[in-house]
Amino acid sequence: MADAKPFHWEYEPPRVVRERYLVTGGKPLEGSTRVSGAKNAALKMLAAATLTGERCRFTNVPEIEDVRAMAETLSDLGVVVDHPEPNTYEVSAGDVDWLFVPLEAAAKMRASFMLLGPLLARFGEVVISNPGGDRIGRRPVDLHVDAMRALGAEIEYRYGYYYAKAPGRLRGTEVRFPFVSVMGTENAMLAATLAQGHTVIRPAAQEPEIDDLIDFLQKMGAEVQRTYPDTIEILGKRRLRGADHAVMPDRIEAGTFAIAAGVTGGHVVLDGADCGSMDALVQIMGEAGLEVTCSPGRIEVDARQAGPGGLKPVDITTGPYPELATDIQPPTTVMLTQAKGDSKVHEAIFEDRLEWTGELNKMGAKIELKGPQRAVVHGPAKLHAADVEISDLRAGASLILGALAADGTSSIGGAHHVRRGYENIERKFLDLGARIERVQEGESVTSQ
Ligand code: UD1
Repeated sequence: MADAKPFHWEYEPPRVVRERYLVTGGKPLEGSTRVSGAKNAALKMLAAATLTGERCRFTNVPEIEDVRAMAETLSDLGVVVDHPEPNTYEVSAGDVDWLFVPLEAAAKMRASFMLLGPLLARFGEVVISNPGGDRIGRRPVDLHVDAMRALGAEIEYRYGYYYAKAPGRLRGTEVRFPFVSVMGTENAMLAATLAQGHTVIRPAAQEPEIDDLIDFLQKMGAEVQRTYPDTIEILGKRRLRGADHAVMPDRIEAGTFAIAAGVTGGHVVLDGADCGSMDALVQIMGEAGLEVTCSPGRIEVDARQAGPGGLKPVDITTGPYPELATDIQPPTTVMLTQAKGDSKVHEAIFEDRLEWTGELNKMGAKIELKGPQRAVVHGPAKLHAADVEISDLRAGASLILGALAADGTSSIGGAHHVRRGYENIERKFLDLGARIERVQEGESVTSQ
């Protein structure tokens, strides 16, 4: 399989259905909605299911395009993927025909690279394309590749593809990362579950989705534990078994809807949300003057007292968990447009995650870039309707938030970015009394 020649076939870029959101804002959101399962846990679990030939069953899987893309990629490898009912997926990787993850799959999402570790560990080889995903910075995969090499793999990079081989079995080792990487940690961890001997991963990322993945791996019979906050240890097994798992709630989705209450001066209850995984955001919302009440499986956010434009400014910096998640930075930045005074934003993880604020400024926000990773949000801004374009997943949700706080009807192009990671976002906003529809070529596709 891993021959030296480049691949010669017609690459078909993924086809995108052009849709836009029409959002009429200026109304406080009121009501409750249910938080879906976490995208960043579900995708890794679907990949982890290839570590065994037995069936794995996942519930609370979000119905999003990234999950569909991962399911399709697995099917193309010859893995049997069933979707017996909404939010449930069953994966049986008994037979795998191809150990090849093509550019078509990789261009759709970065999480396709999560197949490197498990396929290499179980089958001893894989050819996998350099991954795509949101264009929010360089996003290399060198840490993943170095971790596999440390585990004994031979990897060459040619013409956009990594050719990976593990002669014999992967070998347990100390995987030392120069800095924390979420998927780097996960890929190393998945590979090590089938390696010979003991692996220590340090510094291991501490994101709660990784602990949910550990939970699932333990159900598969893997010996894997977080022994210190920044250390994961694994004793490799010869084989793992099938398991059932319910995916944890999505903290970024929950945060997005919590902030929707904040920017519109509304009152929102989020069922199924897990406050425990959202400490940094909950603290910032509190400092901004929102009333946040946490109870098991539920978050209530009340912004009626502060009202839109009446929040307090807060300086924010993103970082690895438990710091503020970079994925919730764009929504938080929208919230800060409604604060009385200036807030500083420091995006410390990705290089290009503030560019999209130019679109928010078209709605009347006053966000001044102070370099690629720093900005000052001058508030409060009276937002107004605009015609804007989405550049990535979280920027998309954030432009919807801006439109919900703005007077008039905004048109937001590029809905496919949002559909990658939010399950039916328009229906959930409708639950909260928003006026929003997703339209394609002038036709309304949202019936509620
Ligand atoms: C994951 C999440 C993404 C989130 C990010 C940070 C998934 C599917 N995606 O992405 O939503 O925004 O964590 O919380 O779970 N880096 C390298 N070399 C590497 C890997 C990463 O230089 O091999 C850099 C990245 O460019 C970035 C930093 O490390 O600056 C952290 O990225 P990382 O934690 O790896 O993010 P992802 O796992 O790609």
